[in-house]
Amino acid sequence: MNERILVTGGTGYIGSHTTVELIEEGYDVVICDNLSNSNRGVVDGIEAITGRRPIFVEADCADPVAMRKLMEDYPGIKAIINFAASKAVGESVSKPLLYYRNNLNILINLLELMPEFGIRGFVFSSSCTVYGEPDRNPVDETSPIKAATSPYGNTKQISEEIITDYIRSGAGIKSIILRYFNPVGAHPSALIGELPNGVPQNLIPYLTQTAIGIRPELSVFGNDYNTPDGSCIRDFINVVDLAKAHVVAARRMLSDESSDDIEIFNLGTGNGVSVLELINTFREATGVDVPYKIVGRREGDIEKVWADPSRANNVLGWKATTPLADTLLSAWNWQLQLRKRGIM
Ligand code: NAD
Ligand code: WQD
Repeated sequence: MNERILVTGGTGYIGSHTTVELIEEGYDVVICDNLSNSNRGVVDGIEAITGRRPIFVEADCADPVAMRKLMEDYPGIKAIINFAASKAVGESVSKPLLYYRNNLNILINLLELMPEFGIRGFVFSSSCTVYGEPDRNPVDETSPIKAATSPYGNTKQISEEIITDYIRSGAGIKSIILRYFNPVGAHPSALIGELPNGVPQNLIPYLTQTAIGIRPELSVFGNDYNTPDGSCIRDFINVVDLAKAHVVAARRMLSDESSDDIEIFNLGTGNGVSVLELINTFREATGVDVPYKIVGRREGDIEKVWADPSRANNVLGWKATTPLADTLLSAWNWQLQLRKRGIM
């Protein structure tokens, strides 16, 4: 029988792409999602791509009764990949308790149930936000953790500490913490992708919605930063490349490849790209000119951050390979698909 993996938040953006890669590698996936930021139609998209329908359970991962039932109903789960979380940075500032409650209760609940159900491996979605404004780039995993600038970011820092403390206590589980840089793009089939709620806060969905005419123009937040063209620099990583790293991480834990019970990896490309460069690459890749204007800086923005992904490259044998132009084209094709389906 194929090894069974629980993917929480599996109908979300990164979770759905990871579910596709897991199924394609022969894993048996159980998705648990409360659909607070996704919809069940995503399961159809996953099935259309892979030819296999993952088990889908609509439930709150922070609910101990519901999660115990899930583990009893679907026995034999070997690892959990925990994507479920609230993730809007701005909203976390106005509703901090919602973020602390959801993100931390999900985590504690799952960790607590793991030993009882013999679940050995836990992959956690962390973020480059833990590095804040780094002293130097690229950033490796030993770079100092900076004070969090939002409750959302703080939940990632606290979560990393909770996992570490739990494992040190002798819980008998293993964990791989993955710190994502900026995940972007969509599956090349355009059958799944990012579904932003309301006005997008992130660059790529705002850009593609502008390109298709939903928004009149893109605001570029600042061109007076200490960077070559004055706009901020990020490490934009293709979501399918990112998804593949989770398969490698799960396999590593299930096969006990590492003697360390807890490991941390940066997931990025290693290339810093500015916001203005990205807009140009989008035009070159798609032939679509995106109207934009330079406006003031956005509060809380990091000037520049990009990954040193060598640990993931060398230890996991994983590397981000998709060129940025292809990634941006995939984001555009996804936007066109949403229009075709009358969603946006
Ligand atoms: P997403 O919102 O698309 O997916 C998260 C999913 O979790 C959603 O489908 C949502 O419905 C579900 N969910 C939320 N609370 C839940 C609960 N209590 N019970 C069950 N399901 C619940 O977000 P994403 O971009 O796919 O992010 C996945 C993970 O990666 C998150 O933990 C996020 O913080 C982290 N992350 C994301 C980024 C990014 O830029 N997208 C960067 C770094 C880290
Ligand atoms: C990227 C760049 C903006 C929108 C956020 C979270 C971080 C992580 C990833 C989860 C910045 C600029 C954006 C726009 C713009 N998430 N921009 N106009 O801020 O790097 O990271 O998502 O962990 O925690 O903070 O991503 O896509 O919002 O912005 O000019 O309309 O694009 O200023 O320089 P960010 P982003």
